[in-house]
Amino acid sequence: MEKNFEKAKQLLRENNQEHIIQYLEKSKNPEKLVEQILNMDFEQLSNLYESTKRPIEIEESEIQPIKFVDKNKLPKEEVTELEETGKKIIRENHYAVVTMAGGQGTRLGHKGPKGTFLVPVEPEPKYIFQILTESLIRENQKYGVVIPWYIMTSEENNEETIAFFEEHGYFGYPKEKITFFKQGKLPIMNTEGKLLMDKNGLIREASDGNGSIYASLAKSGALEKMKQEKIQWIFIGAVDNILLNMVDPSLIGLCIKDHNQIASRTVTKISPKERVGVFGKKKGHPAVIEYSEIPEEMAEEVDEDGELLYGEANTVSMLYSMEALEKASKIQLNYHKAVKKMGYLDENGQWIEPKEPNAFKFESFMFDVFESFDDISILRSKREENFAPIKNAEGADSPETARKLYNQFHQN
Ligand code: UD1
Repeated sequence: MEKNFEKAKQLLRENNQEHIIQYLEKSKNPEKLVEQILNMDFEQLSNLYESTKRPIEIEESEIQPIKFVDKNKLPKEEVTELEETGKKIIRENHYAVVTMAGGQGTRLGHKGPKGTFLVPVEPEPKYIFQILTESLIRENQKYGVVIPWYIMTSEENNEETIAFFEEHGYFGYPKEKITFFKQGKLPIMNTEGKLLMDKNGLIREASDGNGSIYASLAKSGALEKMKQEKIQWIFIGAVDNILLNMVDPSLIGLCIKDHNQIASRTVTKISPKERVGVFGKKKGHPAVIEYSEIPEEMAEEVDEDGELLYGEANTVSMLYSMEALEKASKIQLNYHKAVKKMGYLDENGQWIEPKEPNAFKFESFMFDVFESFDDISILRSKREENFAPIKNAEGADSPETARKLYNQFHQN
């Protein structure tokens, strides 16, 4: 132990993190902190910090609009044909669903996993996880199957998520068909590149973004489990869209018809300012340009009909072949930085909640793997049937806006 303690101190000195030494020395049980330091990839941290000094560069000349299929403009027979292909896959048990629920609902102001948020829908309030489960149960009944459901949690919310499902009897979903797996994490550093401490006297860490999903599927054994279940097509969706259609045979049908390995269902972006990523082509490969990074002029560009040139909004409704997921799990993604308000323990052992953004959080984006594929099938669908996100406590994409959309959809 003594040797490791000294080694940890040495590592901190070598990597400009001397301020952690005093926490080590003051700690009555330093074992965990020592272990954390010994396992830390300081080179990666240093590279990440250096990357924050470089501006985000989006080479507009490299980006082009993307082709898409508008489901509502397709002849009825063609939709039926796509659906038949997809239905066969689902009925034959070759289809699985993954829900990404590793993020914390910070913007929403909800304490706890986002899926445990109670949405005031009619006739009675329902938890987000309950809404998703009910939707999957309806699909299972349609096809006479029980779709394997994989739920990605994080270090921060894994236990609470599982306990919540337990407490609610998995909302009637066969428990043995649900697999939880944890995503990756990264330390948090302040804007000077110094690591922050958490309430437990350890270095503060947080989820490393939803791009973590592919490697985490592989690392946790979930991917292998899917292969054993003979899964061929996998849908990945976000936890926070209460109109998310997780079982869309036309999306599967289109992907197969196009001989593609990946597909996504989009809706039309309402306005240039809507906080959604948009699909495009980057150096000839599929890509999503995130709302936090898209240049204003690009977001506002319109075609000759006055429609947004980059108007295919990412609803986080992604489909992958098994081969595509395996390939994605081996891709090393870049991290995007966000500057956030992050609480920390100061040198006097006091918890500080900063009023201004003070720290860098690094996240990989799931759609960044698309650039490693030749093409993607994009299916534009109706917003009112597919997209009711809950992101903020009030205003756009709030429980109130989502509730209205949910009620309207379910009344019809
Ligand atoms: C996301 C999309 C954006 C899209 C919008 C639609 C990304 C990076 N951005 O934006 O392009 O238009 O949704 O609503 O996907 N998550 C994890 N682990 C993490 C981080 C996130 O599981 O470490 C999950 C969240 O729980 C959620 C989903 O990923 O289910 C979306 O993540 P979030 O970070 O909230 O993305 P948005 O900014 O809302």
